[in-house]
Amino acid sequence: MLTAEENAQLTRVGPGTLMGELMRQYWIPVVQSSELAAGGRPKRVRILGEDLIAYRNPGGRTAVCSEFCAHRRASLYFARNEERGLRCVYHGWQYGVDGGCIDMPNERPESSFQDKVTLPTYPCAERGGVVWTYMGPASPPPGLPDLEWALVPEAQRFVSKFWQGCNYLQALEGGVDPAHISFLHGVLNARDEEARRILDSAAAGFGFASQLERAPHIEVADTPTGLLLGARREAPAGQYYWRITQYLLPFHTMPPPEVGDDPLMHAHVWIPMDDDQLVNWCISWHPTRAITREEIAEFHAGSSIHVTAYAPASSDAYGDIRPAAHRANDYLADWEAQRTRKFFGVPGVGAQDKAITESQGVFDRSLERLGRADLGIIRVRKRLLDAATALRTQRVAPPGLDPAGYRVRPASVLLAKEMPWVEGAKDRLVVR
Ligand code: FES
Ligand SMILES: [Fe+2]
Repeated sequence: MLTAEENAQLTRVGPGTLMGELMRQYWIPVVQSSELAAGGRPKRVRILGEDLIAYRNPGGRTAVCSEFCAHRRASLYFARNEERGLRCVYHGWQYGVDGGCIDMPNERPESSFQDKVTLPTYPCAERGGVVWTYMGPASPPPGLPDLEWALVPEAQRFVSKFWQGCNYLQALEGGVDPAHISFLHGVLNARDEEARRILDSAAAGFGFASQLERAPHIEVADTPTGLLLGARREAPAGQYYWRITQYLLPFHTMPPPEVGDDPLMHAHVWIPMDDDQLVNWCISWHPTRAITREEIAEFHAGSSIHVTAYAPASSDAYGDIRPAAHRANDYLADWEAQRTRKFFGVPGVGAQDKAITESQGVFDRSLERLGRADLGIIRVRKRLLDAATALRTQRVAPPGLDPAGYRVRPASVLLAKEMPWVEGAKDRLVVR
């Protein structure tokens, strides 16, 4: 449980807020590289309460800047993407990718006014097929995070994203909540073979063990960049089955993969658009091999974290990634399946997560009743608040500004009962 004040501090992300200031210390995914064609139309994006556009100039450089022209705030969504810069269609002011005003054709040629005008613009970089931006104060910005999914060859990763109509924190909390897997993504009767076969979560590698033992023992350990969340279940031959989630400040999570030597990995990046909406980035990758066609077909079928069935697109910020399953159509729930087989009738793991976290509404954490199973959530909130408070009051650099701190993986391992879990899993938790 949090006080109402802590709740507000954790969930508000606009300019000048405590959490908004923390999040602006980190690189933020904006769009996929493939969404911006050289010389193509800008896209509206909204990040941390700011209306922005992203575009790629004819020379191939990407830019993220204010949506609104510095002159009289016409939308640059309609701008002309010209060789030398982006030109507002209202009076023709033109801006370079760094935001400098380079032409002001409605002023007399002898005017030097354009030298005094800039368009608010954020540094931009591409890695892992994603355009990232940095909205913070450091100049130069820190290095891009060395996330394995962003560094493997393109064929070894699959990236999708979808819009969610709730505050980022409740969505992220689902990503550090190992206890919900057995319910929200589970079947009614774990010994029902047919139900197991159709289980949505099978493709995401959530593991059958989670269906049999629904109240795992949960432990949490600090890491330099975030937290490890271990969910422990009984296993044969004097062992425990440990499913270990990575949380990396401020908005990255990696759920545990299927058990085995060579599993597919998954990750989320939970990016607040503002206090009431987020973009849920979903990534699957393999450290050493290409993603197969069959796996990609499963991702598109919605039987994993990915949701790629979208409603008709609009040109609003992230208006092209609104899932077809939404609140007003009950997220396409199959109520008969919910009555007879599945714990929750909404099809697809990603859609289940979206449905249930949106259902929490504008979430007042002073009204919750947290149990031992919520330990991961408690610790993530504390880590965020501690980092944000230390930054605000003592100017302490938050964890995670070192790119190497992101070279980690989640893991699912069988360990002898006497083996401490962090020690026993440590080789699997790092990227070499
Ligand atoms: S509003 Fe953009 S040039 Fe006038
Ligand atoms: Fe989930």
